[in-house]
Amino acid sequence: MISGLFCLCDWPKKYFHILLEFLNRQITIVGNYFIMQEYIVVEQSLGLQGTADLVGAKNAVLVIMTSLLLTAGKSTLTNVPASNDVFNMILLLEALGAQVLFNEDEHTLIVDTVSVNKWHVSPDIMKKMRASVLAMGPLLARFGHAELAVPGGCLLGARPIDYHLKNFEKMGVSIAMVGDELHTSCSQLSARRIVLEYPSVGATENIMMAATLAQGTTTIINAALEPEVFDLIEVLQKMGAHITVNAPATIIIEGVQELHPISHAIIPDRLEAGTLLIATAVTGGKIVLPQARADHLDLVLYKLDEMGHSIDIGQNNVGITLRATQAPKAVSFKTTPYPGFPTDLQAPMMVAQCLAEGTSVIEETVFENRLLHVSELQKMGAIIGVKDNKATVKGVGQLLSSAVAATDIRASCALVLAGMAAHGGTTMMSNTHHFKRGYEALDIKLNTLGARIRFVEE
Ligand code: UD1
Repeated sequence: MISGLFCLCDWPKKYFHILLEFLNRQITIVGNYFIMQEYIVVEQSLGLQGTADLVGAKNAVLVIMTSLLLTAGKSTLTNVPASNDVFNMILLLEALGAQVLFNEDEHTLIVDTVSVNKWHVSPDIMKKMRASVLAMGPLLARFGHAELAVPGGCLLGARPIDYHLKNFEKMGVSIAMVGDELHTSCSQLSARRIVLEYPSVGATENIMMAATLAQGTTTIINAALEPEVFDLIEVLQKMGAHITVNAPATIIIEGVQELHPISHAIIPDRLEAGTLLIATAVTGGKIVLPQARADHLDLVLYKLDEMGHSIDIGQNNVGITLRATQAPKAVSFKTTPYPGFPTDLQAPMMVAQCLAEGTSVIEETVFENRLLHVSELQKMGAIIGVKDNKATVKGVGQLLSSAVAATDIRASCALVLAGMAAHGGTTMMSNTHHFKRGYEALDIKLNTLGARIRFVEE
């Protein structure tokens, strides 16, 4: 990193920005230094082979970390991935007064929430990660106050938080916009019948956490039922919350007086599993994922099977082996809430369609702006037409290495996968922070399976 640091001395920073923009270089300015931009360099690496362990699910661990704010005491989470979003969530908890100890090697996180005495989350933290909004429900439930800036995160369209706010208001919360911040407060949260107009994962989790300490019984109709929501439910039940799930998509929460610290192992990351399976499909190899839960990936496995890949599932749906076909057929799919095809695997699966025989129609229905990777794949020779939220992908047989830029966490992965299959030199991907946010050392895991991926600074 030292070689990447240069002192700006007294030069006005705006001149550097103008110069860098002119040169089209990606450089971050931190204090009086500028840091040369990092890239991920990917060389063609066909035929991934081997066995891979999975980390804990990012989308489960982040919300479970915020749920610890509902208790006062020491909780232990295991199988915690050392990804940048987890480090940001640690900063958030510490800023509120929690004592946090993270053993990255053992993936164990100990959080003591006894000393939590604040409910203001700084905009710096909020802007890094949309999941910070998930602190709102627990803070309201424990302190009757939460002050948060409007959250940041990936650029997947407008991504409002109106479902969270509207329903907190119904539960008796007053909300005021103060500058860039939302100041929310309530004297006592009231239980309500909440109807979500869309099964939003975050809104379901936030409302459910708040409702655990509300007076009376809250019912969430049209709730999200992702495996990560169930992992949170298990944690809340361990804390002493009374929660039941009924058909169709209804979560019932009976408020209790207080909740207790817990120990919990985070579920394996189905999105990391899906990414590794698709990486193997794209490079034409064989992979074994002993911890992968096949029942968390039904639609993905169904579509990979339809492409011609051979899939074996272990006993009780645990463990997946994929042997890639050398003649993959294009398949069409549409992203929908769980148990449909996950939006988070849409970009990697699109890479697989670029390399398949035939034409695939991919419809993104969860986020309105999640096809930004298309223009990057086009730079690599993909033939993709986009109309509204539908991409029509014509299989091209081979992709070509190119310079590309990641647009969100999952797109960063897709581009790395495309680079692994691409011919003619190396693929260089900028905006590496997206890749680091969502995954713990996925590059190293892929390299162990035969990939050739490295980080460089220029
Ligand atoms: C979570 C996941 C993310 C995944 C997404 C959908 C985490 C940390 N992130 O994000 O990886 O891609 O679920 O499976 O768990 N919406 C509104 N108003 C709201 C809330 C959501 O309009 O108040 C819209 C969103 O803009 C989006 C859709 O609802 O179009 C789904 O969003 P949601 O399920 O809330 O996603 P997140 O919880 O942000």
